[in-house]
Amino acid sequence: MSEASFIYLSQEDAVACGAADVSATVADTERTTLLAYQGKAIEAPTATLFWGVPAEKLKNFVGYPSKKRANIHAGYIDDDGVEKVALKNIPSNPDNPANNKGPRASGLVTMLDPETGYPISVMDAMVISCMRTGALGAIGVKHLRRANSSSVGLIGVGPINQAALACTAEVMPELKTAFVYDFKAERAAAFASEYSEKLGIDVVPVKTAREAVADADVVIPATNVQTIDDAYIDEDWMKRGSLLVDLSIWDATWDTLARADRYVMNSELSLERKTMTPHVLVSKGIAKESDILDLGKVIAGQAQGRENDDDIIVYFARGMAIYDVMCGYRVYETALQKGIGQTLDLWKAPFWS
Ligand SMILES: NC(=O)c1ccc[n+]([C@@H]2O[C@H](COP(=O)([O-])OP(=O)(O)OC[C@H]3O[C@@H](n4cnc5c(N)ncnc54)[C@H](O)[C@@H]3O)[C@@H](O)[C@H]2O)c1
Repeated sequence: MSEASFIYLSQEDAVACGAADVSATVADTERTTLLAYQGKAIEAPTATLFWGVPAEKLKNFVGYPSKKRANIHAGYIDDDGVEKVALKNIPSNPDNPANNKGPRASGLVTMLDPETGYPISVMDAMVISCMRTGALGAIGVKHLRRANSSSVGLIGVGPINQAALACTAEVMPELKTAFVYDFKAERAAAFASEYSEKLGIDVVPVKTAREAVADADVVIPATNVQTIDDAYIDEDWMKRGSLLVDLSIWDATWDTLARADRYVMNSELSLERKTMTPHVLVSKGIAKESDILDLGKVIAGQAQGRENDDDIIVYFARGMAIYDVMCGYRVYETALQKGIGQTLDLWKAPFWS
């Protein structure tokens, strides 16, 4: 074996190969959640690098001690005998848009040959990662919302909630209204007009976060709150029977979390991350691990997602590399079929053998 090469896919290439495909991403995300529940997926512990703050702040924290961070993830899936394995790095800084530096996050997915471990493709991670996060929220909506739900409340209208709304509309055909709130009123207004037209629903900008939550059957925050000290969704904001899809982690106060009737997580693999919900609920004694239902069990038909129409459910949707693996593999296969992307050499002949 001498030459080794991989396919490079820019963001535009990845989109041309289905990275932003809503129904395919929802399907991949749901399947991955099921495979994880069945023990057919492996998630490596996440490594997170924070920088730009004094070293003292990096000891014994909960939440995000710095806005500047880079997450390194790796995952493996046995998808009916097809082995899929990839690494993802995703650096971010929520100040990027305000500083005219572009989106909050960038990143790369590296798909690996499951036998040699060599890279077979390196591709943009941004679209895949946002879409699978939105889809992860949506599969919670699919399985946990109350019957006859018709509205969602979005807080924050960045890429994550754009993906979340598109994917939610996919799984919730009865969706009529989305209330949207963002610190940046003009961003919320632009989002409202774009998505009203795209999805054929009423997207209504509101003036406060509470207004976005009050009448919503499904509440989805995707903001930049860094720690629970800045949480703002109070327990009396959520209406009975609603579902909180916890995408950005620190929006709901401890009381709101503690008073929920039911906790659901997308996978028990997510408990590995000890500085985040849902694990911090366990370490604080608010919930036992056994109280947090694995959505995979619901998808497998072994548990009921919602038991009572009146329950307030909190669904912890924690993105993991296994979702990027599944979606990235689909994008890679499409690139092969369509002949999209640049082939780059890893080596012509290995320097060491
Ligand atoms: N659950 C997951 O697996 C997962 C995966 C990826 C990203 N995320 C999180 O999703 C969040 C959103 O990501 P993004 O790329 O869309 O970010 P972004 O910075 O592009 O957009 C966030 C938007 O929220 C608004 N905002 C911030 N704080 C607010 C608040 N308290 N009230 C109202 N509006 C507020 C900002 O003005 C901005 O428009 C980030 O916190 C990110 O860490 C979660």
